[in-house]
Amino acid sequence: MDNSSVSIAQDILNHADIVKVVGSYLTLYKQGRNYKAVCPFHDDTNPSLVVSPEKKMFKCFVCGTGGNAITFVQKYEHISYGEAMKKVADICDYHPAGLDNISRPKKVDEKREALLKCLYDLNLYYQFSLNTPEGKAGLDYLESRHLDTVLRNKYKLGYANKDGKSTIEFLKKKGHSIKTIEDTGIAKMIGGGSYADMNEGRVTFPICDPDGNVIGFSARRLVNDDTAKYMNSPETYLFHKSNNLYNFHIAKEAAKLKGYIYICEGFMDVYALARIGIDAAVAIMGTALTSEQIALLRTLNVELRLCLDGDLPGQSAMMKIAKVLSANGIQFRVVDNQGSSKDPDEILNEDGPKALEEYLNKMVSHNDFALNYYLRSNPLKTVEEKKALVKQFLPILANLNSQLELDSYLRKLSQITGFNVESIRSLVKQARMQARTGEGLKVEKNLFQNFHPEREALQKLVTAERELLYQMSRNKAAVAFYEQNVGGFYDDIYRQLANFMVEYALTHDDMDVSGVMVLVENSDLENKDEILNDLSSLVIETHPDECNKQLLDNLLSTIDSEKNRITSEDMLNDSLKGKSELEKARIIAEFRRREMIKKK
Ligand code: CTP
Ligand code: MN
Repeated sequence: MDNSSVSIAQDILNHADIVKVVGSYLTLYKQGRNYKAVCPFHDDTNPSLVVSPEKKMFKCFVCGTGGNAITFVQKYEHISYGEAMKKVADICDYHPAGLDNISRPKKVDEKREALLKCLYDLNLYYQFSLNTPEGKAGLDYLESRHLDTVLRNKYKLGYANKDGKSTIEFLKKKGHSIKTIEDTGIAKMIGGGSYADMNEGRVTFPICDPDGNVIGFSARRLVNDDTAKYMNSPETYLFHKSNNLYNFHIAKEAAKLKGYIYICEGFMDVYALARIGIDAAVAIMGTALTSEQIALLRTLNVELRLCLDGDLPGQSAMMKIAKVLSANGIQFRVVDNQGSSKDPDEILNEDGPKALEEYLNKMVSHNDFALNYYLRSNPLKTVEEKKALVKQFLPILANLNSQLELDSYLRKLSQITGFNVESIRSLVKQARMQARTGEGLKVEKNLFQNFHPEREALQKLVTAERELLYQMSRNKAAVAFYEQNVGGFYDDIYRQLANFMVEYALTHDDMDVSGVMVLVENSDLENKDEILNDLSSLVIETHPDECNKQLLDNLLSTIDSEKNRITSEDMLNDSLKGKSELEKARIIAEFRRREMIKKK
């Protein structure tokens, strides 16, 4: 930069409001004198990027990225300093004289230019080879995948001849140095100091940067053998697979026009969408969406439509991706696999264009996707995980206005976790109340009182029994303690539950509530639904997690003394029935006397 550009940049920085600049890309949260945001420069989930309006700086305390308003835009948009200056000037509506004259001489990077030229020639060669007799096998293969001339040309598909040495010879003849050929990453050593094409015998898919320059290749085998299905260029000076999205250079314009972009796993999926007229689609070339790829997608400012394969790896990868996008405040929807395990290419080929179109148009929110996922793949094994899922959904459910919607969520959650619908509903009610009173959200204990009003009278005893039951559900030592010290719970249902836990403990090394539930379910008790309801609300309550001797002893002493009190009062009441007033007085006096002795 020359002196005048430096002073113009300084002028812009002095006038620019960094909060406005960063805020036009990220959601900012005020914190004291500063602002915080989820950092776009690494895989952030908690806001760790700090923006200081006073210092006119930003800094991420996790990945270390920092700078001023101009460098922020430069990094975020992957553009030159000069371009970023202009963007900042636009955002802050401050255009100093001379800004328009700043020419942006792109730093000429000779190594990059040489590599780009070489890769360009190489791709022409591959495309040419596809239409020679030697390339017939590749051509047939692409035809078999429904990739006709138009598509082959559009995506510049090709074939790498079986004789891999010819590729190297061709590039040398075109004037590329052996060093440059090596640096493209496509050459492999074959002894005697000579090289061959690592893609030999495969069909080739050029991978481009966002401007459409070929920077690397992926090459597919033609037959099923034990080699890799797709071979990708190694990481090179130009090519970083995880920084790029396949087809981004074509998709970006279409996406801006349509307002959305589909994100698929593979090349064939991108082509499938193109075959039904959707150009706004990219492939992540696997199942991971990296932070660099997210940053790239963000610049489009359109709705992301996640459309990974319908199979379990695809769906569970989408769960991870959805979480990250959500944490970053990025708008997206998920294409609902509707229980199918196919990828878009398979849907198009097996079920036809209409089926694919309908598939792509059935999209669900993050919440619905998550619930469908848990319902269909049943990955939550432990009660802790199920409990965590309910807790995670409580604030969402508490904010729903539609009763129908709430009911449908409750049914799904109940199906996933095995917890009773009404138990979860009452937690939602609590969450709503807590939200109103401004209290933090917590899963309250003593939830059971909603369903068993008779227990209210015995609250002290039932609370202690319930607490012990909770410990028993997680801890074999608590079960043993119960067997040795408690001659059965006073509450009928708790007594039955305790029996099941004792039975479970006999045959298992560790307690697991899901296992106890199975026992209850398989029993032929008439009231097993009631028992299951109680067990499921028990496990989603909050109780102290640490179970020690002190806790158990305290519970036991409460249970014993309360039981004594209640049984003796019951006995007293029974013995008073049908007695004369005089007899009653005598019995009561005797009862008090015995109580006094007991207390001593
Ligand atoms: N992939 C890769 N290397 C592999 C396998 C897969 O780079 N060995 C990438 C490719 O970009 C591929 C994507 O991951 O397109 C998805 O993989 P997969 O679902 O296995 O392939 P499909 O797209 O279904 O490819 P095909 O239909 O050719 O089998
Ligand atoms: Mn696939």
